[in-house]
Amino acid sequence: MTAQLIDGNALSKQLRTEVATRAQALKAKGVTPGLAVVLVGDNPASQVYVRNKVKACEDSGLHSVLEKYEATMTEADLLARVEALNNDPSIHGILVQLPLPAHIDAQKVIEAISPAKDVDGFHIASAGALMTGMPGFWPCTPYGCMKMLESIGYDLRGKHAVVIGRSNIVGKPMALMLLQKDATVTVAHSRTQNLKALTLQADVIVAAVGKRNVLTADMVKPGAVVLDVGMNRNDEGKLCGDVDFEGVKEVASHITPVPGGVGPMTITMLLVNTLEAAERASN
Ligand code: GUN
Repeated sequence: MTAQLIDGNALSKQLRTEVATRAQALKAKGVTPGLAVVLVGDNPASQVYVRNKVKACEDSGLHSVLEKYEATMTEADLLARVEALNNDPSIHGILVQLPLPAHIDAQKVIEAISPAKDVDGFHIASAGALMTGMPGFWPCTPYGCMKMLESIGYDLRGKHAVVIGRSNIVGKPMALMLLQKDATVTVAHSRTQNLKALTLQADVIVAAVGKRNVLTADMVKPGAVVLDVGMNRNDEGKLCGDVDFEGVKEVASHITPVPGGVGPMTITMLLVNTLEAAERASN
């Protein structure tokens, strides 16, 4: 069997068109959705990420501001900037790009963001809302994965989902989202014994470890759906995921490629969350 691709670029395009339409409707009511992206220091990967986020906003008709600060910025100054953005009515979403320089307590900065503007979904109030099924912002990457499953009409009820990875940004919220859709969820991680025995039982596998070839064809049940959150480089320096794509695509029913899979969906869901924040603020 050769798996069907779940195309993150195509789905993003469709969802971003919807965002642009809803943004136009809000603008007609006098509200332009606004995102503030804060970057501290000169991490090269972060610079690329924030540029892409700001560009995506512009392309969808959202207002965005990029605030760049020296790596020597103090924690107190950053907290003061966050507070100013919390009180800025033209800003509906605030994103502080991670990682932050070591002298700044990232968790403290995240908790300083107003939960109403926490479009990354990293605040403990957002995590608590997800856990209890209350309204709040969902972290963009696992939210994008849920949209990808929705796009193929996948019914998660009673299905076994195995999430590989337990980060606060992907693995844990991913597990909660799948649980909310009535999947039976297993979270595997670096200390898990016999990962293959678990993945072979899975109807859905989400690989979110950050290591190449964590999932190979012999670990996948025929017909399973495989979502690859990984962003790694292979020996030739080419972008690749956590999944051995060439092998697994012969076993799975659906699979996300890297690049062009989950990656573009993360930024798309940031736009969706920012729009949602602006809609909530205007109601
Ligand atoms: N660094 C890497 N990914 C992300 C993300 O999704 N949000 C933020 N704020 N920082 C990141």
